[in-house]
Amino acid sequence: VKEPLQDRFGRVKRKLRLSLTDRCNFRCRYCMPEHPQWLPGRELMDREELLRLATLFVDNGIEELRLTGGEPLLRKDVVACVAALSRLREHGLKRLSMTTNGTRLPALLDDLIEAGLDDLNISLDAVDEGRFQALTRRPLAPVLAGIEKARDSGLPVKLNAVLIQGYNDDQILPLTHWAKARDLPLRFIEYMPLDEPGRWREEQVVSEARILDTLAGHYRIEALPRGAAPATEYRLDERYTLGVISTVTRPFCADCDRLRLTANGHLYTCLFARQGHDLLTPLRGGESEAQLRRRIEQRVWHKDAGYAATPGPVDRPITMHGMGG
Ligand code: GTP
Ligand code: 5AD
Ligand code: SF4
Repeated sequence: VKEPLQDRFGRVKRKLRLSLTDRCNFRCRYCMPEHPQWLPGRELMDREELLRLATLFVDNGIEELRLTGGEPLLRKDVVACVAALSRLREHGLKRLSMTTNGTRLPALLDDLIEAGLDDLNISLDAVDEGRFQALTRRPLAPVLAGIEKARDSGLPVKLNAVLIQGYNDDQILPLTHWAKARDLPLRFIEYMPLDEPGRWREEQVVSEARILDTLAGHYRIEALPRGAAPATEYRLDERYTLGVISTVTRPFCADCDRLRLTANGHLYTCLFARQGHDLLTPLRGGESEAQLRRRIEQRVWHKDAGYAATPGPVDRPITMHGMGG
């Protein structure tokens, strides 16, 4: 391994979020516009291109890959992608993870584990059918089936719930109760302005403080020391661990060790970056590994301070479903 990738604020990059597709079978309102435009197929990285770029990042100090989407399991060759990426352990990869809406897990999970997947985060924004559908515009049952499959497999699983005032803020207790009863770690996520431009409003953010207030009436809560994860963790009733990802009220930009690569091979050095940097065109143009590495190094060096420095919506066309979260 050469020098690890680092930005001008001294933040070393260890994690790459790799979007396998921008498509999704859900329509979560916090994630995509009313009428999403999918990337055309020929603009997507094929498996070989994906592997070449991922190898370049791992050879330059990236230790953890998280596969995202859209919905990563909609990609037809997802199992082959996992198998190919899993071989990067020989290059120093330590963890291969995925964030999914869960609906395709019953069909795919056994093969994904066999291919080398290490852990899963599954989105679950409500346990009430009406609330769930208001947010995702899809039924709840297939997600619950996916979670059950994941839990039975023994793979480490965490649940993610994005809270939006007026949509599912009444789900804090039901979700906690549901997850705690199954001993599945749950993280509440503050709603970020990454959906259709103009939709997010600050009043809709359910803050970490509010979440803790709500829980405090029902559980004994103890804050755990802050680790490397984006979540602040809390111990409930001395045994169950729950996390809050306070992206808006307490952003973790100062410790940011992440990079993102979209399904069409654009590098975004920050979730809120105004622009990505196209790596696929030079790759297809036959640029050498050394030249590609220099491109990446330069972009990473100039990475913005992040949301903590300039909060609020970003004016750009790409939304969360194209970015992978
Ligand atoms: P773990 O390693 O398991 O903690 O994964 P993760 O929590 O980083 O990944 P996941 O895909 O489950 O993301 C959970 C939430 O954190 C999503 O809402 C992401 O958009 C958000 N998130 C992840 N990384 C970043 C980041 O670098 N900046 C911000 N602002 N949010 C992030
Ligand atoms: N704000 C916060 N989290 C979001 N996610 C998608 N859109 C947003 C948003 N606007 C979450 C999804 C998933 C993860 C990848 O990102 O719920 O759990
Ligand atoms: Fe799809 Fe995930 Fe976005 Fe929902 S949050 S629309 S499941 S990519």
